[in-house]
Amino acid sequence: MNATIPKVYKEAQDFMPLNGTDYLELYVSNSKQAAHFYKTAFGFQSLAYAGLETGLKDRESYVVVQDKIRLVLTSPLKSGTAIGQHIDKHGDGIKVVALWVDDAVYAYNTAIERGAESFMPPTIEEDENGKVVRSGIYTYGETVHIFVERKDYKGIFLPGFRKWETPHFSPAPTGLRFVDHMVGNVQLGDMDKWVNFYEEVMGFVNILTFDDNDISTEYTALMSKVVSNGNGRIKFPINEPAIGKKRSQVDEYLDFYEGEGVQHIAVATDDIIETVTQLRSRGVEFLRVPDTYYDAVTDRVGKIDEDIAPLRELGILVDRDDEGYLLQIFTKPVEPRPTMFFEIIQRKGALSFGKGNFKALFEAIEREQALRGTL
Ligand code: FE2
Repeated sequence: MNATIPKVYKEAQDFMPLNGTDYLELYVSNSKQAAHFYKTAFGFQSLAYAGLETGLKDRESYVVVQDKIRLVLTSPLKSGTAIGQHIDKHGDGIKVVALWVDDAVYAYNTAIERGAESFMPPTIEEDENGKVVRSGIYTYGETVHIFVERKDYKGIFLPGFRKWETPHFSPAPTGLRFVDHMVGNVQLGDMDKWVNFYEEVMGFVNILTFDDNDISTEYTALMSKVVSNGNGRIKFPINEPAIGKKRSQVDEYLDFYEGEGVQHIAVATDDIIETVTQLRSRGVEFLRVPDTYYDAVTDRVGKIDEDIAPLRELGILVDRDDEGYLLQIFTKPVEPRPTMFFEIIQRKGALSFGKGNFKALFEAIEREQALRGTL
């Protein structure tokens, strides 16, 4: 792996500056209940709604928000729709990773010129609060990036959505702040293809590489490369399976998602102990490493601000790199298929992704796979 991570990702060519993640749209089988889950379990707040009452005939979306994270939960209202077909094939999962740009026409034209496949030509949507321009391209699998230009818009989300208010039910936030990184799982042999896509089409740079020696246990292995845009706000690790004695978590994902897609969304918090305490009390299930992990943790990472006892109690992992350290924990999959899950991460200087935890973590995943009969 690369010895150091560039503090400024100098090589990235920010020809389509990305200001951050605008929203994530999940296609789900029951948008109303999914919204309830993300509010109750994760502390998201009601934000916006579009459906029959706003003039839509074929689908319904609830939008929930927590600090800078917006989730759009969309379900079809009838059979035979593209959304329904997506859910039938993949189960609940992420369809859209929307990126906030200053100019959605320019971003689209640049991406298309550089070889991207079109999902949605630039489209202007307007209401009494102004206008939004959106455009979209395909990435791995059936996942898409939508560029969102909202500088002329003052509404709560997008034109066509009305405010969604639930005054009698507003669980408190859990301290989730923004999307730190988002990981894609791709087919064996396709990792470099998608790294090249992000480099050539989007101007990202490959900031880290993990080979199957970095990410392996006795039984399974995977490979991963991390690409980042120039300002570092968008970071996409791309995983592919590697040959091991047994089937890796990436193989399991590809089998159950029936193709390539988003594996996990890492969300940042400023206080992981408080956040995980809240999430756990609301029913979010986390992966656990063996208790012996904590016997060696201080020797491995040195002195940290937190007491080890609450980390051990909650199952929070720690890792250190040249810049500092990080705390992280992973949920179990949040839908019936063993596909997408969340990572909660608190960075204390570290810019990396927890390489020191990979082995313990992947052994924990293997134990879950064994229970599912998919190892
Ligand atoms: Fe991660």
